[in-house]
Amino acid sequence: MMELMKRGLLYAALCLVWADCSNPGCVEVDSDTEAVKDHPMKLRCISCKKRGETEAMTVTEWVFRPQQNKTFYKIYEYAYPDVAIAYGDFENRIEWSGSKETSDIQEATITVHNVSFSDAGTYRCFFNRTFSYRNGDFIFFTQTNKTIELDVVAKENRKLASIIGEIMMYFLNVVLTLWLFAEMFYCYKKIAAAGEEAIQENASDYLAITSESKENCTGVQVEE
Ligand SMILES: *[C@@H]1O[C@H](CO)[C@@H](O)[C@H](O)[C@H]1NC(C)=O
Ligand SMILES: *[C@@H]1O[C@H](CO)[C@@H](O)[C@H](O)[C@H]1NC(C)=O
Ligand SMILES: *[C@@H]1O[C@H](CO)[C@@H](O)[C@H](O)[C@H]1NC(C)=O
Ligand SMILES: *[C@@H]1O[C@H](CO)[C@@H](O)[C@H](O)[C@H]1NC(C)=O
Repeated sequence: MMELMKRGLLYAALCLVWADCSNPGCVEVDSDTEAVKDHPMKLRCISCKKRGETEAMTVTEWVFRPQQNKTFYKIYEYAYPDVAIAYGDFENRIEWSGSKETSDIQEATITVHNVSFSDAGTYRCFFNRTFSYRNGDFIFFTQTNKTIELDVVAKENRKLASIIGEIMMYFLNVVLTLWLFAEMFYCYKKIAAAGEEAIQENASDYLAITSESKENCTGVQVEE
């Protein structure tokens, strides 16, 4: 939810600054880099096509280098519609969370299930794009990659800022609710009193008193 909001906001901001909304929905957001043991971890990998690039056939591939290890091992390969293969330790643990139902892939995000400490290390995703122009007369190939350094921790480390934010939100909520009730109560008493007096007084006094009580009850709508 927060992720979505962040993404939405970022995209809105980029649109305003850049006025380049030619590729709606594609923003290259970095991945989180801290996984929690035994939990699923989303490794985000996004490579947006440039403005004006035509449809591409894209195959994607993930490699992984364990900590203190020099070599990258291929762990996953995905291409729409029929390639989705995980290798080695990652067999049965990788779920595709990237672009859906298109071979023109811009997001190669994967979710790794049941994370263990040995999953810490360097992950890299590749996008192999093949563009074909004039119905295949002319073929153009590009490769891009993104790298993620992943830590694995035993327990989720909540960021201090998010905790403070939550407390502030809770506090504000309580204060505003109490204030609203106090104001309503005050206005109710004042109007009730005004109404009672008005029964005894004449009509012009009644009007004067209610308009006065309206002024004092800022923020709460008084029924006409
Ligand atoms: C690198 O990783 C492989 C398998 O994950 C392991 O067999 C090998 O011992 C590791 N090498 C080093 C130097 O850690
Ligand atoms: C998760 O991993 C642990 C050990 O690493 C294993 O005992 C457990 O069965 C695994 N669970 C799933 C759902 O794969
Ligand atoms: C992507 O392109 C590179 C370089 O040409 C190649 O080595 C690699 O095997 C390709 N990956 C896939 C999944 O086809
Ligand atoms: C990854 O991409 C960068 C450019 O973004 C390039 O310089 C680098 O050589 C690439 N790495 C691999 C292993 O292809």
